Amino acid sequence: MSENHVYPVSAELAEKSLLTNEQYLADYAASINDPEAFWGEKGKILDWIKPYTKVKNCSYDPGHISINWFEDGELNVSANCIDRHLASKGDQVAILWEGDSPDQDQSITYNELHKRVCQFSNALKAQDVQKGDVVCLYMPMTPEAAVAMLACTRIGAVHSIVFGGFSPEAIAGRIIDSKSKIVITADEGRRGGRPVPLKANVDEALEKEGTDCVEKVIVFKNTGGDVAWHEQRDLDWETITAPQSEQCEPTAMNAEDPLFILYTSGSTGTPKGVLHTTGGYLVYATMTFKYVFDYQEGDIYWCTADVGWITGHSYLVYGPLANGATTLLFEGVPTYPTTARMSEVVDKHNVTLLYTAPTAIRALMAKGDDAIKGTSRESLRILGSVGEPINPEAWEWYYDKIGNKSCPIVDTWWQTETGGILITPLPGATDLKPGSATRPFFGVQPALVDNEGVILEGAIEGNLVMLDSWPGQMRTLFNNHDRFEQTYFSTFKGMYTTGDGARRDEDGYYWITGRVDDVLNVSGHRMGTAEIESALVSHPKIAEAAVVGVPHEIKGQGIYAYVTLNSGEFSSPELYAEVKQWVRKEIGPIATPDILHWAEGLPKTRSGKIMRRILRKIATGESDQLGDTSTLADPSVVDQLIKENAEL
Ligand code: WT7
Repeated sequence: MSENHVYPVSAELAEKSLLTNEQYLADYAASINDPEAFWGEKGKILDWIKPYTKVKNCSYDPGHISINWFEDGELNVSANCIDRHLASKGDQVAILWEGDSPDQDQSITYNELHKRVCQFSNALKAQDVQKGDVVCLYMPMTPEAAVAMLACTRIGAVHSIVFGGFSPEAIAGRIIDSKSKIVITADEGRRGGRPVPLKANVDEALEKEGTDCVEKVIVFKNTGGDVAWHEQRDLDWETITAPQSEQCEPTAMNAEDPLFILYTSGSTGTPKGVLHTTGGYLVYATMTFKYVFDYQEGDIYWCTADVGWITGHSYLVYGPLANGATTLLFEGVPTYPTTARMSEVVDKHNVTLLYTAPTAIRALMAKGDDAIKGTSRESLRILGSVGEPINPEAWEWYYDKIGNKSCPIVDTWWQTETGGILITPLPGATDLKPGSATRPFFGVQPALVDNEGVILEGAIEGNLVMLDSWPGQMRTLFNNHDRFEQTYFSTFKGMYTTGDGARRDEDGYYWITGRVDDVLNVSGHRMGTAEIESALVSHPKIAEAAVVGVPHEIKGQGIYAYVTLNSGEFSSPELYAEVKQWVRKEIGPIATPDILHWAEGLPKTRSGKIMRRILRKIATGESDQLGDTSTLADPSVVDQLIKENAEL
């Protein structure tokens, strides 16, 4: 696919949109020349209880990394997402819920959302949840997930959401690290016609050592499925919420008070607790939602992400609601009960803005026209993509089929750590090139550097870094500022390291090439090779493991695991299935290896370091390009692995 294939902004689109290219260029220049003035003005997109007088106070200096925005201001997130809209749009739908089953839906107005959030906030207070306490959410994709998030923000509690697909082991790890006091969950979730055992997973997690920080478990009865009940610990959502007052005064929070923790995978060690704070995060989520999706009154917006990921935080809940939008929350999967479910939901609710992931697009594309059968999708105005590079073929299919060749696609690049979108087209301003995330958002200063950290100019490829802070940037890793500095600010001094590689073309457009570290991106889900390896070696029969990513048609990347068994153990089809199941149980289904390669030995340097570069090449069948192998302790290992790979 040629990158010369450009989709220019039509005059009509520029006319109808919030921003033209001229405005983008002028505002972008202003945002970089004088960030204080720019963000000082833009911060007014929110309602502040106490207005800020300071705007930006950030340092990327080694040893003194510190990020502060609007630091003397006070505000409340739930008041910005709900209360301030009540006078003008109390009866407008805030959350449009579409169940896993097409005959289930709910419309929740801003008035109704206010009532539900206030009552649940009061219920949390009655359980002695106080400002600064950490609340773990392990929720299905129902409106209660958003209600619980907003209630936490209303009373100043810090939520830590664990994706509903994660295992008891993973829940326990996050509860322990964040010292969660309360867990909020449901009896079961529903996905693709099958129940998801949420409460049972929480019960199992809480049996693990170190989780006794949890005082209560609040259980929303979603399916009515049978669950175990611990009288001393478990509380029924409805029972504790129904008697509560429908008013709850929002707590005034400092702009730099913690808002939430969200765990994400890194290249080494256990998942990291990314901490976002209140003011800068919300300003940035609100601004980016408005301009990236060109949000206008009357839009129906649908983001298909789960609340358990950062996209679900910033662009399912906080960004849309702070703008007073109608946000659609979908419990199910894009191809159930029919292949065309996604398009059917678009038609049913007249969705105008659709935000989804390349992996979903590729899965639909594989089904051909069945994916749009019987639907018109005429309501759509703008399409979005997020989570991984979108290949030009998938881009074109999304554009032609889902968007009827009439909707611009915003390919948005960002990360859990960035809080909001950093590199993206803007619908009325940016000429599109399939596969490119294009240009930086206001206030964002990307650069490409070589491996020594030297800034590269012009059309070139390099490591993607950010030269200065933006309001939505993470502030630290929960309880681990050293690891924060080490991970993001030590590779290249004075810059934020993204971990991604990118290329910049003659027009200054960025093309993300993927991770340059040992982080995998499987179906838009981030996973550390180290995490999967540690799950593998915890199996009693496994001595050693090394995990690499390989290209995968639908998932983007697949998981290829080299496994060395303890002496005396032998590989078998049964063990193959058992080991896959083991990882599934240790981390969650998304971490299940696609391929296990029983290896007698792994290529190591004389000092014992596994040479992953070589393992990557072997896994992708590029064994003719192994590069320098002179540091190998035992070169025969490599020949053996190549032979085994060919037989897989
Ligand atoms: C990593 C961050 C951002 C929310 C979902 C993922 C990759 C993300 C794109 C894109 C190419 C992308 C990067 C990034 N990524 N969006 N539009 N084009 N790559 O958040 O789990 O923190 O993962 O996802 O590699 O570093 P995350």
